[in-house]
Amino acid sequence: MDLKSLIRNIPDFPKPGILFRDITTLLQNPHGLRYTIDSLTEKCRPLSPDYILGMESRGFLFGMPLAYQLEVGFIPIRKPKKLPAAVYRAEYELEYGTDCLEMHQDALSSGDKVLIVDDLIATGGTAKATAELVEQAGATIAGFCFVVELTGLKGREQLPDVPVISLLQYD
Ligand code: PRP
Ligand code: ADE
Ligand code: MG
Repeated sequence: MDLKSLIRNIPDFPKPGILFRDITTLLQNPHGLRYTIDSLTEKCRPLSPDYILGMESRGFLFGMPLAYQLEVGFIPIRKPKKLPAAVYRAEYELEYGTDCLEMHQDALSSGDKVLIVDDLIATGGTAKATAELVEQAGATIAGFCFVVELTGLKGREQLPDVPVISLLQYD
């Protein structure tokens, strides 16, 4: 299936010079949605994770159905001040300034093996910050999985040396 034809390209969003890869049109297409989740499932199954971690907000859209299919639990990685119990926190760089992500401290134990899932990797800052949260918990990263990889930004070079899976690549 030609998944790229279901992803809408919007120039100059959210700012001039950015070509935004809009996955809402993919999600809305029933065949595209099913094909995407089934493909992610088959590519990620061999990594045998104990948990899927998904990053707020677009990572939830793919991480949750993937966890359901692989019959493992889902752990949300959230933007600051959303999680109610004690958290680990990791900062990451944005184009202007920094942001941070949080994970519940009791979500993972050492020995747990996790797969980190997001819709898209650009600079890799979001995925790298999530990896730091897993390391703070003493757990192990089985791999990373993205629907879209913007290869020209070399985000995967920011990540630890584990399998990095992407369904679609754009230069
Ligand atoms: C987008 C996208 C990834 C991240 C990729 O999320 O969903 O999470 O950017 O960029 P990076 O590799 O340079 O870190 P965004 O922060 O826009 O928030 P959203 O998921 O809530 O839309
Ligand atoms: N997140 C970071 N860069 C992006 C892009 N070009 N399209 C969609 N989401 C993004
Ligand atoms: Mg995101």
